[in-house]
Amino acid sequence: MYDFQPDTALKPEELYRQLAEAADALTRDEPDPVANMANVAALIWEFVPDLNWAGFYRVGTALKGGQELILGPFVGRPACIRIPLGQGVCGAAAKTGESQRVEDVHTFPGHIACDTASQSELVVPVLRDGEVIAVIDLDSPRKGRFGPHDAEGIEQLALVLINRI
Ligand code: SME
Repeated sequence: MYDFQPDTALKPEELYRQLAEAADALTRDEPDPVANMANVAALIWEFVPDLNWAGFYRVGTALKGGQELILGPFVGRPACIRIPLGQGVCGAAAKTGESQRVEDVHTFPGHIACDTASQSELVVPVLRDGEVIAVIDLDSPRKGRFGPHDAEGIEQLALVLINRI
């Protein structure tokens, strides 16, 4: 049994340090990417307060050729399965290789609403050898939920996962 018991009253830096440590411990000896993404989505859900969706989209083969984002393991309501690179907040992170921190999703051009409860969003790319292989997506029902510490924390988590998803 895994029982990390996150203290959500912790400062964000310490909360994300503990999250990365827990993710490292959970994925270190497991080569299966789906198992690792599933457990890390569950960890994010437990550690990070005020979320309505947390999970992964992987870069994969598009139905019409080329590449697109394909839904991976997550916690939350059923979501859009395929997202073209460059579309929505996830597609922007995948295309640019840069984290997208959106205070109000309604002001983001092309935002894809999978859950109407979502008000703000943080998407962090996972890069391997300079290529985006996946994005980590966090949605919150609270406007302005994600600050710079949240982006930095999830970026640290992405580094842990480079060769594990
Ligand atoms: N809102 C995202 C789509 C994914 S859901 O939030 C799970 C976007 O605009 O890319």
